[in-house]
Amino acid sequence: MNQSAPPIYVTQPYLPPLEEFLPYLEAIWDSRQLTNGGPFHQQLEAELGSTLGTPHLSLFANGTLALITALQALRIQGEVITTPFSFVATTHALLWNGIKPVFVDIDPDSFNLDPARIEAAITPQTSAILPVHCYGRPCDVEAIQKIADNYNLKVIYDAAHAFGVDYQDNTLLQHGDLAVLSFHATKVFHTFEGGAIICPNAKTKQHIDHLKNFGFVDETTVVAPGINGKMNEFSAALGLLQLQHLPQILARRTAIAERYLEALAQVPGIRCLPPAPDTRSNHAYFPILVDAPYPLSRDALYNHLKAHDIHPRRYFYPLISNLPMYRGLPSAAPELLPIASRIAEHVLCLPIYPDLSPADQERVIQSIQSPWM
Ligand SMILES: Cc1ncc(COP(=O)(O)O)c(C=O)c1O
Repeated sequence: MNQSAPPIYVTQPYLPPLEEFLPYLEAIWDSRQLTNGGPFHQQLEAELGSTLGTPHLSLFANGTLALITALQALRIQGEVITTPFSFVATTHALLWNGIKPVFVDIDPDSFNLDPARIEAAITPQTSAILPVHCYGRPCDVEAIQKIADNYNLKVIYDAAHAFGVDYQDNTLLQHGDLAVLSFHATKVFHTFEGGAIICPNAKTKQHIDHLKNFGFVDETTVVAPGINGKMNEFSAALGLLQLQHLPQILARRTAIAERYLEALAQVPGIRCLPPAPDTRSNHAYFPILVDAPYPLSRDALYNHLKAHDIHPRRYFYPLISNLPMYRGLPSAAPELLPIASRIAEHVLCLPIYPDLSPADQERVIQSIQSPWM
């Protein structure tokens, strides 16, 4: 083991040079406007709207509050069909709204909710579908919309991983009744903590803007039991600065993904996901599947890398449906979720972030190519 090599984590938040952030801080100190829809908040909503091609966007303090509010905004109740192969916040947002999650298995190629299995899970209590564009790879948005139209269901996309992803030459975020982004520090675009709801029109955005501000419409009028979901000015300022660096962030991620693909595609037993069809990816994650004839199991490779101070993550293991608060649900039975269960046992997400140096990436690659060293 190389004792002197620094640890390599699955991700490292991108930060622009500090001196570029200082003028924003000075402006905040001058204005004393720290939150409540201040000037940076307004500017970031406008700039993100045009960068993403989604003009009606409402910023949030984080993606989880945005998910909870999106469900409230559409008054979703009863049962919601969702994927077990995601970060826990997807399903927790349902529970926080008193909604029963109904898990449906995923597609073996996209790792997203399998539309062919959704219909069988619909009951008279079903009110919506909550799919996730897992790793930023597009769900089968056409098939999901068709089912939603046929059964009069709402669709809310958990698009936490899908910042800047284009599908069929358009933003992926335009799909669904609402789409929710996370700007958590680990994400492609971050604001320390943050998130957003992509709305289809100005009226929906206005309603959501009220909901994220306790339901206030003006000083004395409260129209709904809202929450405090507002993004503060420090986060909004960082977001504005991050946007200026976005092209280089995406370019570095692309280069790292291409190098992994080139180096690992030929390693027997390591499967890299082929590029998603018709998609401009954001390379938010680099998942591989580890299986025979690779000489190590996924967990053995995970431990081998950790022994070399390389820290990949087993996103998403364990499945949400196996967690104590969900495993009693009828739809959580592992035998109903064979694909998700298998992928959760074999997947490993490799380090990918703009500051990952070529030398450090080669350390990761060599440790996978030569697991006996
Ligand atoms: C798929 C998914 N949904 C929701 C969230 C929650 O977002 P946040 O951390 O901004 O609350 C995350 C990640 O953090 C996520 O990966």
